Amino acid sequence: MTTNQELMRRREAAVPRGVGSAHPVFAAHAENAELWDVEGKRYIDFAGGIAVLNTGHRHPKVMAAVAEQLSHFTHTCFQVSPYESYIALAERLNTMAPIDGPAKTIFFTTGSEALENAVKIARAATGRSGIITFAGGYHGRTMMTMAMTGKVLPYKKKFAPMPAEIYHVPFPHAPFGVTVQDSLRAIDMLFRADIEPERTAAIVLEPVQGEGGFIQAPTELLEALRKLCDRHGILLVADEVQTGFARTGKMFGIEHSGVKPDIMTVAKSLAGGFPLSGVIGRADIMDAAEPGGLGGTYAGSPIACAAALAVLDVIEEEKLIDRANAIGERMKARLEAISMRNNTIPIAAIRGPGAMTAFDVVTTRGTDEPDPDTTKRILTKAREHGLILLSCGVYGNAIRLLVPLTASDALIDEGMDVLELALAA
Ligand SMILES: Cc1ncc(COP(=O)(O)O)c(C=O)c1O
Repeated sequence: MTTNQELMRRREAAVPRGVGSAHPVFAAHAENAELWDVEGKRYIDFAGGIAVLNTGHRHPKVMAAVAEQLSHFTHTCFQVSPYESYIALAERLNTMAPIDGPAKTIFFTTGSEALENAVKIARAATGRSGIITFAGGYHGRTMMTMAMTGKVLPYKKKFAPMPAEIYHVPFPHAPFGVTVQDSLRAIDMLFRADIEPERTAAIVLEPVQGEGGFIQAPTELLEALRKLCDRHGILLVADEVQTGFARTGKMFGIEHSGVKPDIMTVAKSLAGGFPLSGVIGRADIMDAAEPGGLGGTYAGSPIACAAALAVLDVIEEEKLIDRANAIGERMKARLEAISMRNNTIPIAAIRGPGAMTAFDVVTTRGTDEPDPDTTKRILTKAREHGLILLSCGVYGNAIRLLVPLTASDALIDEGMDVLELALAA
């Protein structure tokens, strides 16, 4: 039998250390919200491949759609011989997206690529260059998105120089002492000190910061940004890569605010484990780039488009938006109960809309002093007892729960039992 240890040894010899793995657990098989490693050990999966599996591992409908597509063709390149599934998926997203007026959608492969292209489209549409993003935000690891990401370690270290024309402002979050007014004042300062509004193409933000710690953008901020963008002809871009497709208890995270963005980026749970991303935007904006200026060899793969059409059916048929809210309430109630006990590791700030649930591990009950070392130990202990968890947050002390929305209550409770065990003092 191949062991995790043996594969880890080969991994270390053959793969650079720059790509991390949260757990030394090599996957052999996975089904819905469970995963088995090469040694046959079973895990409950509360990571979902980092928010990719809202519809679970290998959902039968997604697998059937992919199998059907595989029997026809696997690749032609949309820029050579287009296919209907790409168009059908664009039509569905155009209807679903909370965008004012007619929308258009273009597909890519990764979330980063969607962000890269959102910037290209925003620049083409406005004739401007500047991009404003938020500290703590995460938009990817490619050159442009690395620069847009508001976290130095580990994403930017040793990779300078960053592409130009990207500006960060603080993201409102009470424990960090940042209010909505502080964020807005920082943009005002930016307009005085660094870049005039007339040179700013877009403001890009996550409706709920994902890697940054599951911190929801206040409605007040989004409304103020919408007004600011309208006043200056700046485009508002919602990065829905992690928040999209029912996770937050709405189809898209920004719907909690009622604010309509000009452009949205989607990826991750869009295609249930197949690599697919998209940029959805107001039709007039989306048509700004010249023919041939956008695309990619694998962009909008027919296999991934088939998977995504099935994912959208599953979200509807299995009422996963309602399910996300029920799961979120269930997990948060359990976390609240754990946080009241005085014989557990102290946790705080249980939060997140719908099933986008996280909490902080802190040094002392009643404070918000981050404890990243204990967070790491909790992840290890949970894994040893069969639960895959992920951390996040600017200080690395948040634990996020990204269980598939197709998981049963019984499985979620079993996972929460393990989490409680891992939190025992
Ligand atoms: C909000 C957000 N944007 C962009 C990305 C980048 O996506 P990808 O890793 O597919 O390039 C991520 C990935 O975690 C993300 O969470």
